[in-house]
Amino acid sequence: MEIVGIDVGFGYTKASNGKDSVLFKSLIGDATDIQFRSFLGEDTSTSNLHITLNDKSYFLGSYAEEQSNIPEFTLNQEKLIENFVKILAITAAGLCTNSSGPINVVTGLPVGYLKRDSRRLKEMIQGTHEITYHNVDGKDETKRVHIDKIQVIPQPIGSIFNLIFNDSGKITDKKLALQKLGVVDIGFKTSDFSIFDHLRYIERGSSTMDTGISKCFNVFANKLRQESNINIELYRIFKFVATGMIKIKGKEYNITNLKKRVYTHAAAAIAADLNRLWENDWDIDSIILSGGGSVELAEYLSPNIEGNVIPIPNNIDARFNNVQGYCKFGKYKWGTQKTYPEQTTSSQDTTSTKIPCESDNNTETEPLTDKQEKSSKGISWLRRQN
Ligand SMILES: Nc1ncnc2c1ncn2[C@@H]1O[C@H](COP(=O)(O)OP(=O)(O)OP(=O)(O)O)[C@@H](O)[C@H]1O
Ligand SMILES: [Mg+2]
Repeated sequence: MEIVGIDVGFGYTKASNGKDSVLFKSLIGDATDIQFRSFLGEDTSTSNLHITLNDKSYFLGSYAEEQSNIPEFTLNQEKLIENFVKILAITAAGLCTNSSGPINVVTGLPVGYLKRDSRRLKEMIQGTHEITYHNVDGKDETKRVHIDKIQVIPQPIGSIFNLIFNDSGKITDKKLALQKLGVVDIGFKTSDFSIFDHLRYIERGSSTMDTGISKCFNVFANKLRQESNINIELYRIFKFVATGMIKIKGKEYNITNLKKRVYTHAAAAIAADLNRLWENDWDIDSIILSGGGSVELAEYLSPNIEGNVIPIPNNIDARFNNVQGYCKFGKYKWGTQKTYPEQTTSSQDTTSTKIPCESDNNTETEPLTDKQEKSSKGISWLRRQN
């Protein structure tokens, strides 16, 4: 059974089956009739996304940005679930799998919406979908995407799973798995905080705030509108932030200083939220920064956070952390292998580091006992099944 992780973020949609990964902007636009194609420039699997789903055609991602009359994105959770999730998730899943048989999916929601939206999210994407990819060479490819089981987990936990599991869903970083970990996932709209203590999800230290990078982009857009009279859509700002230079009607605007000020302010606000939320969790061993926004804010954020912050490696794209962790968790949950940690050098080390809820005799569907249920509130999604 193939397992696919899907992360529909407000900024980017990501999917991975452990081998292949895709990423495109969470933008949906009308499919226009393109009369001439130049076939020059970049051509990746996501640069010309034109699909038909349920008899409606769309351009997605950068293709929508460049070619649609009305590209749309949202910063509203309700709209994301109602109007965006299905199209984005099925497209991403279809790109990541060649299987027409059933696949199992692990996906996530911001911590604050997990309870409210899990069921709706599942209903949106579960089942069999027929999707047609209209390739630029004129050839259409119709795929059946059959989503069987779906597991929805708190988004930032994906980043923890990405660090502690290997690609086949085995715990490899036993040291980290035995720590109390805090994770800060800064995305386009939300900042999600979560605590994972000895492989137990701690609800109390987990929360969602509206302090993603789009707030900073809003300030840039307002300032540029004052100076140029042009209204710049937030999704068009991504490509200018790295250089700090933006050209509008032939005139160059430098936002480098503004960016420093705005990022300093945003990082201070996020750090203040975090220090307040985790005030009583002073025993956190390590703090993991994740999500694309944490890369942008890293240099401003780390000095403000009290604790042992694990630096973001600069050879990875932090936008993929959650989705890669989802996929690894799927392998753990539905894989056939036992998931005991790999042996360390000491053969005498018999510390138990199984994910909680996995029953000792490996009949994974066994229900939690009352005591377990109480002590590990909110972690039923951790249960392993086959
Ligand atoms: N190479 C890159 N290209 C574009 N954006 C990048 C890049 N690297 C980091 N970023 C940052 O990544 C952010 C998006 O991160 P991510 O994909 O984790 O967010 P998201 O999951 O879509 O949002 P949310 O979690 O709020 O739903 C952007 O706001 C941007 O600032
Ligand atoms: Mg995200």
